[in-house]
Formats: sequence, C-alpha cells, structure tokens
Amino acid sequence: MSIPIIQQNKSDIKITRIGHSRLNNIDMENVGFGKVFSDHMFICHYENGEWQTPEIVPYGKIPLSPSFSAIHYGQAIFEGMKAYRGDNDEVLLFRPEENWKRMNHSASRLSMPEIPKSLFIDGLKALIDLDKAWIPQNDKGQLYIRPHMFATDEFIGVKASESYTFVIFTCPVSFYYKNPVKLLATKEYTRAAIGGMGNAKAAGNYAASLFPDKLAKNQGYDNVLWLDARLHQYIEECGTMNVFFVIDDVVVTPLPTGTILGGVTRDSVIKLLKDSYNTLGLNGIEIRRVSIYEIQDAYMQGTLREAFGTGTAATIAPIAKIGFGGKDMNLPEERPVSSWLYKQLYGIQTGKIYDPYEWVIML
Ligand SMILES: Cc1ncc(COP(=O)(O)O)c(C=O)c1O
Repeated sequence: MSIPIIQQNKSDIKITRIGHSRLNNIDMENVGFGKVFSDHMFICHYENGEWQTPEIVPYGKIPLSPSFSAIHYGQAIFEGMKAYRGDNDEVLLFRPEENWKRMNHSASRLSMPEIPKSLFIDGLKALIDLDKAWIPQNDKGQLYIRPHMFATDEFIGVKASESYTFVIFTCPVSFYYKNPVKLLATKEYTRAAIGGMGNAKAAGNYAASLFPDKLAKNQGYDNVLWLDARLHQYIEECGTMNVFFVIDDVVVTPLPTGTILGGVTRDSVIKLLKDSYNTLGLNGIEIRRVSIYEIQDAYMQGTLREAFGTGTAATIAPIAKIGFGGKDMNLPEERPVSSWLYKQLYGIQTGKIYDPYEWVIML
C-alpha cells in the first residue's frame, strides 16, 4: 500500500497539554456518536484582519459573550471529517484538503475570512497526533473531527463580524445510523433554495431542518428526504447525507444546483462507481435531476433496486424505506451496490484496500 506522508509543521502552534488524560475513564466500546470529546482542542482567533497564533489547549469551555454576533446573525460554519486507525496502528486521514476547500467555500458564502491551508491542515494534524490514542480500533469506530468557525464581534446590528474563532475538536465515534434508514419526502418544508446557502456547511441550514425532522421522526422515520424548493419534486439530499438510487442497472444521484452540500463521500463514491461498472454489473451513473415521482414509478415497476446515502458520519447508509404522499416504498433487503461501496470505501479509508486515488494520508 502506498500512502503519502505529509510533513507536519507544528512549529508555530503553541501547545498546552492536559495534566491527566481522561481516556482511561472512557468506555471506548460504548462511545456512541458525538457525546465524548478527546483531551485537546485547537483554537485560533481572527482579529484586526489577521489570524493570530494558533494554540492547542485542553478541551474545555470557551468564554462566550451574550452579544457574540454568531448567536444572533448566524455566522457559524463547520466541517466533519474522520481519522481512521489502520491495522498497524497508523493514523489515516481521508481527503482532508477537500474539507479545507469546502470550509473556505462556506466561509466565503457567509462573508467570513478564509482559513489558510497550513492553519487548517497543520492544526488538524498536530491535534490528532496529540490525541491519537483516542482513535478507536478500526472495527469499532473512528475519530470524528469537527473544525468550526464562528463570529465573535460583540455587536448588535446586521453586518459581517470582524473577529472570529476557529476551533477543531475531536470525538471518538461508532456508527451514526445503527440500522438502514427510513426517510420521509415532504412537500411542506424545504432545506435550501437556489441562491441560498444550501451548498455551504452553515449551522443555520441544520437549525432549519430540525423541526421538519422532528415531524418525520414523530411519524416513525429517521430523517427528511429534502425536495427542491420551487417544484417540491426533485430530490436534493438528506439532512446528513447525499443520496443515490439504483434503478435497473444505472445509478442516479441528484445534480448539484447550489442547493445541496457537495459531499466528499459523494464525490468518492461517484469515482469508485465509475471505475467499477463491470464488477457491479452496472451500466453507468447519471448525475441529473431526479424526481420523487420517477422514484415512485421505478418502485411500482420493480426497477428500484437500492437507495443509499453517503456521508462522513453516515458512511454508506442503506435506505430501507422512503415515505411520500402517504405511501411507503420499502426497498429490497439485498443491497449489492451499497454493500460493495461500503467495503471498498471503508477498506481504502482504513488502509486495508489499495488506494489508487491517493485519497488517504498517513499522519
Ligand atoms: C447536509 C449534508 N449533506 C451531505 C453530507 C455529506 O458530506 P460528506 O460526504 O462530505 O460528509 C453532509 C455531511 O457532512 C451533510 O451535512
């Protein structure tokens, strides 16, 4: 296996280590998702038009002013990525530069300062190097990494803040979805409209999804399957994942029109599929608008073979059921395409399968 080793440049990060690691008190077999946080966090402030000296400090509370503009006007963005433990205890990162690029896309859309590549990548690597003992064994889970940035001007009035804080913290996680997911497509609410900020990883997008998601959960579904804002017909994505459908021998996934998040997993899956049509008996992948009515028709005709979501947290999540217009589509339990993709992608991410794309970076 050939994995490029990128040199670390930690020299300009001020590091304050925790006195006693909390790791011994953690039951790594039962960490769940997003509840347990590792020992340290990376933090860097943006003031007077410049990024200040980055620091790594013990994970803990950050002083908060009630007038922080992020709380009022929503300048808050984040990323989600993972570190994996290989069979020989090596630490592996999956396409971290893609997350850096997307973070800066989100920053620019919300009128926030861009983060220099070295600040993001070196900060991330130094933090993970320090807390690598928190990465679960590779059959048990991964270390979820959460870079985020928020506005810190103490100011009331709608304008872009002039000061920001960029933080990275990590948490050991196991599976996000324990079972195949059940989604509800609804015409009543929308996640994003053309010209909005649907393709930014902005905190506000998630806030807007919570109430419709609650309604879906009340009806026994896990999440909403979002439809387009204009015609309430074209499938966009799910709250935490991009979506794919296998119809006959073709894989179909929605065309990004600025309203869906450009998933790193989605992009990787498209590449894996394009290189594996023969293995999977497929005849192609179509990236185009896909209507919920087309999915219903395919279901009625028995040609809807599989549906699955893709995301860093969710990995490759098979979809068991899609509700729409008062009817449920129950999908087959045999899922050759998504099972193959999961094994292939996770195999690459954990260094078990050769990575011809050079996606994986060893710390
Ligand atoms: C709304 C949304 N769509 C899609 C994704 C999948 O993106 P990725 O594969 O980069 O994790 C995520 C997760 O980050 C998400 O929050």
